[in-house]
Amino acid sequence: MKIMWTDELSVDVPELDEQHRRLIDLLNEFYDAIERGHDEEAIRKLIEGMEEYTVFHFCTEEQFLIEINYPDLEKHQKAHQILINEVKSAKARYQNGDRRAVRELIAFALAWLYSHILKVDKKYSNYCKECPFLNIDLIAKRSLNKCLENEG
Ligand SMILES: [Fe+2]
Repeated sequence: MKIMWTDELSVDVPELDEQHRRLIDLLNEFYDAIERGHDEEAIRKLIEGMEEYTVFHFCTEEQFLIEINYPDLEKHQKAHQILINEVKSAKARYQNGDRRAVRELIAFALAWLYSHILKVDKKYSNYCKECPFLNIDLIAKRSLNKCLENEG
């Protein structure tokens, strides 16, 4: 299963939309690589790349939610943790020789992301609409920069 970006997925925060697009692209690339039967080294790198970008994206989004004083932050963080745990456990399974782990991870992550954006991220999107005085572009950029600094 692959997913494509559509406007329906927009959270109306350009920086976060861009990150969601990138995440979808990454997952689709990963899916293609597996379909083509890539070597172990390449797949290991793809898992690591996915872990890194997922952590980075969630960092940006959570920082953004903190800055807009989002009331449901904790619940949202817990939802993110589900995907992070899934990536980490797939990585461990793959390292232990379970080749099915990667295909299962991609299928899970694509479905998770689609439903997460539509059901969970859309809630902060609606919250932002109720606070028109917030400069969401500026806040999203600041959040992104903070996470880039953390990465060092
Ligand atoms: Fe989210």
